[in-house]
Amino acid sequence: MNTAIAVIGGTGRVGRIVTRKLLDRGESVRVIGRSTQRARRHLPPRAQFFLGDVRDPESLSAPLDGCSAVVYTVEPGTDPAGPDSPRSTLHAGVLNTLDALQRHSALGRAQFVLVSQRHVTRPEHPMNAYGRMLDWRLAGENAVRASGLDYTIIRPGWLTDRTELADDGRVHLEQGDRRDGYVALQDVAEACVQALYCPSAKGLTFEMRNGAGSPPGDWEDLFAGLSADEAVPLHAPA
Ligand SMILES: NC(=O)c1ccc[n+]([C@@H]2O[C@H](COP(=O)([O-])OP(=O)(O)OC[C@H]3O[C@@H](n4cnc5c(N)ncnc54)[C@H](OP(=O)(O)O)[C@@H]3O)[C@@H](O)[C@H]2O)c1
Repeated sequence: MNTAIAVIGGTGRVGRIVTRKLLDRGESVRVIGRSTQRARRHLPPRAQFFLGDVRDPESLSAPLDGCSAVVYTVEPGTDPAGPDSPRSTLHAGVLNTLDALQRHSALGRAQFVLVSQRHVTRPEHPMNAYGRMLDWRLAGENAVRASGLDYTIIRPGWLTDRTELADDGRVHLEQGDRRDGYVALQDVAEACVQALYCPSAKGLTFEMRNGAGSPPGDWEDLFAGLSADEAVPLHAPA
Protein backbone atom coordinates (compact mmCIF):
# COMPACT_ATOMS: atom_id res chain seq x y z
CA MET A 1 0.00 0.00 0.00
CA ASN A 2 1.22 3.51 -0.74
CA THR A 3 -0.41 5.10 2.28
CA ALA A 4 -0.25 4.53 6.01
CA ILE A 5 -2.06 1.81 7.95
CA ALA A 6 -3.23 2.60 11.50
CA VAL A 7 -3.18 -0.07 14.20
CA ILE A 8 -5.38 1.04 17.10
CA GLY A 9 -4.32 -1.07 20.05
CA GLY A 10 -0.99 -1.65 18.33
CA THR A 11 0.85 -1.74 21.66
CA GLY A 12 -1.27 -4.71 22.80
CA ARG A 13 -0.59 -8.42 22.39
CA VAL A 14 -2.25 -8.90 19.00
CA GLY A 15 -1.65 -5.36 17.80
CA ARG A 16 2.09 -5.38 18.27
CA ILE A 17 2.40 -8.56 16.17
CA VAL A 18 0.22 -6.97 13.48
CA THR A 19 2.48 -3.92 13.58
CA ARG A 20 5.66 -5.95 13.13
CA LYS A 21 4.17 -8.00 10.30
CA LEU A 22 3.08 -4.86 8.43
CA LEU A 23 6.48 -3.22 8.92
CA ASP A 24 8.12 -6.39 7.57
CA ARG A 25 6.01 -5.95 4.44
CA GLY A 26 7.36 -2.44 4.03
CA GLU A 27 4.21 -0.66 5.14
CA SER A 28 4.12 2.68 6.88
CA VAL A 29 2.45 1.91 10.23
CA ARG A 30 0.88 4.33 12.70
CA VAL A 31 0.13 2.89 16.10
CA ILE A 32 -2.53 4.65 18.17
CA GLY A 33 -2.75 4.16 21.94
CA ARG A 34 -2.89 5.96 25.26
CA SER A 35 0.54 5.21 26.68
CA THR A 36 3.85 6.49 25.37
CA GLN A 37 5.60 4.30 27.92
CA ARG A 38 3.91 1.19 26.58
CA ALA A 39 4.79 2.23 23.03
CA ARG A 40 8.46 2.65 23.96
CA ARG A 41 8.49 -0.77 25.57
CA HIS A 42 6.76 -2.71 22.81
CA LEU A 43 7.18 -1.01 19.44
CA PRO A 44 10.07 -1.12 17.03
CA PRO A 45 11.50 2.30 16.11
CA ARG A 46 10.11 2.08 12.56
CA ALA A 47 6.52 2.27 13.88
CA GLN A 48 5.14 5.78 14.27
CA PHE A 49 3.34 6.17 17.58
CA PHE A 50 0.46 8.61 18.07
CA LEU A 51 -1.14 9.31 21.43
CA GLY A 52 -4.84 8.78 20.87
CA ASP A 53 -7.94 7.48 22.57
CA VAL A 54 -10.87 6.00 20.70
CA ARG A 55 -13.24 7.65 23.20
CA ASP A 56 -11.95 11.08 22.12
CA PRO A 57 -12.79 11.73 18.44
CA GLU A 58 -10.46 14.74 18.17
CA SER A 59 -7.46 12.62 19.12
CA LEU A 60 -8.03 10.39 16.07
CA SER A 61 -7.97 13.10 13.40
CA ALA A 62 -4.21 13.56 13.07
CA PRO A 63 -3.19 9.88 13.22
CA LEU A 64 -5.86 8.82 10.71
CA ASP A 65 -5.17 11.67 8.30
CA GLY A 66 -4.11 10.07 5.03
CA CYS A 67 -4.51 6.45 6.21
CA SER A 68 -5.93 3.85 3.86
CA ALA A 69 -6.72 1.21 6.49
CA VAL A 70 -7.32 0.64 10.18
CA VAL A 71 -6.81 -2.49 12.26
CA TYR A 72 -8.81 -2.14 15.52
CA THR A 73 -7.67 -4.35 18.42
CA VAL A 74 -8.83 -2.35 21.44
CA GLU A 75 -9.36 -4.18 24.73
CA PRO A 76 -12.39 -3.02 26.76
CA GLY A 77 -12.78 -2.64 30.50
CA THR A 78 -15.45 -4.78 32.16
CA ASP A 79 -17.14 -2.21 34.41
CA PRO A 80 -20.27 -0.80 32.72
CA ALA A 81 -19.90 2.45 34.70
CA GLY A 82 -16.13 2.79 34.30
CA PRO A 83 -14.28 4.99 31.81
CA ASP A 84 -13.22 1.98 29.70
CA SER A 85 -16.70 0.46 29.59
CA PRO A 86 -17.48 -1.87 26.69
CA ARG A 87 -19.98 0.69 25.46
CA SER A 88 -17.30 3.40 25.21
CA THR A 89 -14.49 1.28 23.77
CA LEU A 90 -16.31 -1.29 21.64
CA HIS A 91 -19.18 0.80 20.27
CA ALA A 92 -18.57 4.56 20.68
CA GLY A 93 -14.86 4.01 19.96
CA VAL A 94 -15.63 2.14 16.75
CA LEU A 95 -18.09 4.85 15.66
CA ASN A 96 -15.50 7.56 16.36
CA THR A 97 -12.88 5.67 14.37
CA LEU A 98 -15.18 5.04 11.41
CA ASP A 99 -16.11 8.70 11.34
CA ALA A 100 -12.50 9.90 11.52
CA LEU A 101 -11.40 7.40 8.88
CA GLN A 102 -14.15 8.45 6.49
CA ARG A 103 -13.30 12.12 6.98
CA HIS A 104 -9.52 11.84 6.85
CA SER A 105 -8.59 8.74 4.90
CA ALA A 106 -6.51 8.73 1.74
CA LEU A 107 -8.30 8.80 -1.60
CA GLY A 108 -10.34 5.70 -2.42
CA ARG A 109 -12.28 3.36 -0.17
CA ALA A 110 -10.60 2.69 3.16
CA GLN A 111 -10.34 -0.74 4.78
CA PHE A 112 -11.32 -1.63 8.34
CA VAL A 113 -10.27 -4.80 10.12
CA LEU A 114 -12.04 -5.27 13.46
CA VAL A 115 -10.91 -7.79 16.08
CA SER A 116 -14.09 -8.83 17.85
CA GLN A 117 -14.66 -12.12 19.72
CA ARG A 118 -16.55 -15.40 19.61
CA HIS A 119 -19.99 -15.57 21.32
CA VAL A 120 -20.83 -12.02 20.30
CA THR A 121 -24.23 -13.09 18.98
CA ARG A 122 -25.08 -14.94 22.20
CA PRO A 123 -26.30 -12.47 24.84
CA GLU A 124 -26.92 -15.33 27.30
CA HIS A 125 -23.18 -16.18 27.37
CA PRO A 126 -21.47 -15.47 30.75
CA MET A 127 -19.05 -13.02 29.10
CA ASN A 128 -21.98 -10.66 28.60
CA ALA A 129 -22.22 -10.18 32.38
CA TYR A 130 -19.14 -7.94 32.10
CA GLY A 131 -20.64 -4.61 31.11
CA ARG A 132 -22.74 -6.23 28.34
CA MET A 133 -19.49 -6.70 26.50
CA LEU A 134 -21.00 -8.97 23.87
CA ASP A 135 -23.93 -6.65 23.13
CA TRP A 136 -21.63 -3.67 22.66
CA ARG A 137 -19.18 -5.63 20.56
CA LEU A 138 -22.00 -6.70 18.29
CA ALA A 139 -23.15 -3.09 18.02
CA GLY A 140 -19.59 -2.14 17.02
CA GLU A 141 -19.54 -4.94 14.46
CA ASN A 142 -22.86 -3.76 13.03
CA ALA A 143 -21.53 -0.24 12.66
CA VAL A 144 -18.56 -1.57 10.69
CA ARG A 145 -20.79 -3.75 8.48
CA ALA A 146 -23.05 -0.76 7.76
CA SER A 147 -20.18 1.68 7.14
CA GLY A 148 -19.76 1.17 3.43
CA LEU A 149 -16.02 0.60 3.94
CA ASP A 150 -14.22 -2.54 2.84
CA TYR A 151 -14.14 -4.48 6.08
CA THR A 152 -13.25 -7.80 7.68
CA ILE A 153 -14.48 -8.79 11.17
CA ILE A 154 -12.47 -11.42 13.00
CA ARG A 155 -13.93 -13.17 16.05
CA PRO A 156 -11.15 -15.06 17.84
CA GLY A 157 -11.78 -17.70 20.46
CA TRP A 158 -9.67 -17.58 23.64
CA LEU A 159 -6.32 -15.99 22.85
CA THR A 160 -3.15 -17.82 23.74
CA ASP A 161 0.47 -17.96 22.67
CA ARG A 162 1.53 -20.11 19.72
CA THR A 163 3.85 -22.15 21.97
CA GLU A 164 0.85 -23.44 23.91
CA LEU A 165 -0.71 -24.67 20.69
CA ALA A 166 2.46 -26.13 19.23
CA ASP A 167 0.76 -29.09 17.51
CA ASP A 168 -2.31 -27.14 16.53
CA GLY A 169 -1.12 -25.19 13.53
CA ARG A 170 -4.29 -25.51 11.54
CA VAL A 171 -6.50 -22.44 11.39
CA HIS A 172 -10.25 -22.97 11.32
CA LEU A 173 -12.34 -20.07 10.06
CA GLU A 174 -15.99 -20.62 10.91
CA GLN A 175 -19.31 -18.82 10.72
CA GLY A 176 -22.52 -19.10 12.74
CA ASP A 177 -20.94 -18.41 16.17
CA ARG A 178 -21.83 -21.78 17.71
CA ARG A 179 -18.48 -23.29 18.69
CA ASP A 180 -15.63 -22.46 21.07
CA GLY A 181 -11.86 -22.88 21.04
CA TYR A 182 -8.41 -21.43 21.50
CA VAL A 183 -6.46 -19.50 18.91
CA ALA A 184 -2.88 -18.28 18.82
CA LEU A 185 -2.30 -14.52 19.02
CA GLN A 186 0.10 -14.92 16.11
CA ASP A 187 -2.61 -16.46 13.90
CA VAL A 188 -5.10 -13.72 14.74
CA ALA A 189 -2.47 -11.13 13.84
CA GLU A 190 -1.73 -12.92 10.58
CA ALA A 191 -5.45 -12.99 9.74
CA CYS A 192 -5.62 -9.21 10.33
CA VAL A 193 -2.72 -8.65 7.96
CA GLN A 194 -3.96 -11.09 5.31
CA ALA A 195 -7.39 -9.45 5.41
CA LEU A 196 -5.77 -6.23 4.18
CA TYR A 197 -4.26 -7.93 1.12
CA CYS A 198 -6.74 -10.67 0.12
CA PRO A 199 -9.70 -9.49 -1.96
CA SER A 200 -11.71 -12.53 -0.81
CA ALA A 201 -11.63 -11.26 2.82
CA LYS A 202 -13.78 -8.23 2.06
CA GLY A 203 -17.25 -8.20 3.59
CA LEU A 204 -16.60 -11.23 5.81
CA THR A 205 -17.34 -11.93 9.48
CA PHE A 206 -15.91 -15.15 10.88
CA GLU A 207 -14.78 -16.95 14.03
CA MET A 208 -11.26 -18.32 14.44
CA ARG A 209 -9.74 -21.23 16.34
CA ASN A 210 -6.77 -23.58 15.98
CA GLY A 211 -6.86 -27.35 15.58
CA ALA A 212 -4.53 -30.26 14.84
CA GLY A 213 -2.70 -29.89 11.55
CA SER A 214 -0.53 -27.61 9.49
CA PRO A 215 -0.65 -23.84 9.17
CA PRO A 216 -2.59 -22.43 6.24
CA GLY A 217 -0.80 -22.23 2.91
CA ASP A 218 -3.06 -19.80 1.14
CA TRP A 219 -5.23 -17.36 3.09
CA GLU A 220 -6.99 -16.18 -0.05
CA ASP A 221 -8.40 -19.73 -0.38
CA LEU A 222 -9.30 -19.87 3.32
CA PHE A 223 -11.28 -16.64 3.08
CA ALA A 224 -12.85 -17.70 -0.21
CA GLY A 225 -14.43 -20.71 1.54
CA LEU A 226 -16.61 -18.38 3.68
CA SER A 227 -19.90 -16.64 2.93
CA ALA A 228 -20.06 -12.86 2.56
CA ASP A 229 -22.19 -11.00 5.11
CA GLU A 230 -25.69 -9.99 4.23
CA ALA A 231 -26.62 -6.34 4.67
CA VAL A 232 -27.33 -5.69 8.35
CA PRO A 233 -29.44 -2.94 9.90
CA LEU A 234 -27.58 -0.43 12.05
CA HIS A 235 -28.81 -0.71 15.63
CA ALA A 236 -27.37 -0.44 19.12
CA PRO A 237 -28.54 -1.94 22.41
CA ALA A 238 -30.97 0.21 24.39
N1 LIG B 1 -8.23 -12.38 25.79
C1 LIG B 1 -8.93 -13.19 25.00
O1 LIG B 1 -8.98 -14.42 25.19
C2 LIG B 1 -9.70 -12.60 23.84
C3 LIG B 1 -10.56 -13.43 23.11
C4 LIG B 1 -11.22 -12.88 22.00
C5 LIG B 1 -11.04 -11.56 21.64
N2 LIG B 1 -10.22 -10.77 22.39
C6 LIG B 1 -10.05 -9.36 21.95
O2 LIG B 1 -8.92 -9.28 21.08
C7 LIG B 1 -8.46 -7.91 21.04
C8 LIG B 1 -6.96 -7.87 21.23
O3 LIG B 1 -6.63 -8.44 22.50
P1 LIG B 1 -5.18 -8.23 23.15
O4 LIG B 1 -4.98 -9.33 24.12
O5 LIG B 1 -4.19 -7.96 22.07
O6 LIG B 1 -5.44 -6.88 23.98
P2 LIG B 1 -4.37 -6.06 24.86
O7 LIG B 1 -3.05 -6.72 24.86
O8 LIG B 1 -5.03 -5.76 26.17
O9 LIG B 1 -4.22 -4.70 24.02
C9 LIG B 1 -5.28 -3.82 23.93
C10 LIG B 1 -4.81 -2.53 23.29
O10 LIG B 1 -5.92 -1.60 23.31
C11 LIG B 1 -5.40 -0.31 23.60
N3 LIG B 1 -6.48 0.49 24.13
C12 LIG B 1 -7.29 0.22 25.19
N4 LIG B 1 -8.18 1.21 25.37
C13 LIG B 1 -7.92 2.13 24.38
C14 LIG B 1 -8.51 3.37 24.05
N5 LIG B 1 -9.54 3.89 24.75
N6 LIG B 1 -8.03 4.05 22.97
C15 LIG B 1 -6.99 3.55 22.25
N7 LIG B 1 -6.39 2.36 22.54
C16 LIG B 1 -6.84 1.68 23.60
C17 LIG B 1 -4.29 -0.61 24.62
O11 LIG B 1 -3.34 0.44 24.69
P3 LIG B 1 -3.38 1.57 25.85
O12 LIG B 1 -4.06 0.96 27.06
O13 LIG B 1 -1.97 1.95 26.07
O14 LIG B 1 -4.19 2.68 25.24
C18 LIG B 1 -3.65 -1.84 23.99
O15 LIG B 1 -2.70 -1.48 23.02
C19 LIG B 1 -9.24 -7.19 22.14
O16 LIG B 1 -10.35 -6.53 21.59
C20 LIG B 1 -9.72 -8.35 23.01
O17 LIG B 1 -10.84 -8.01 23.79
C21 LIG B 1 -9.55 -11.25 23.47
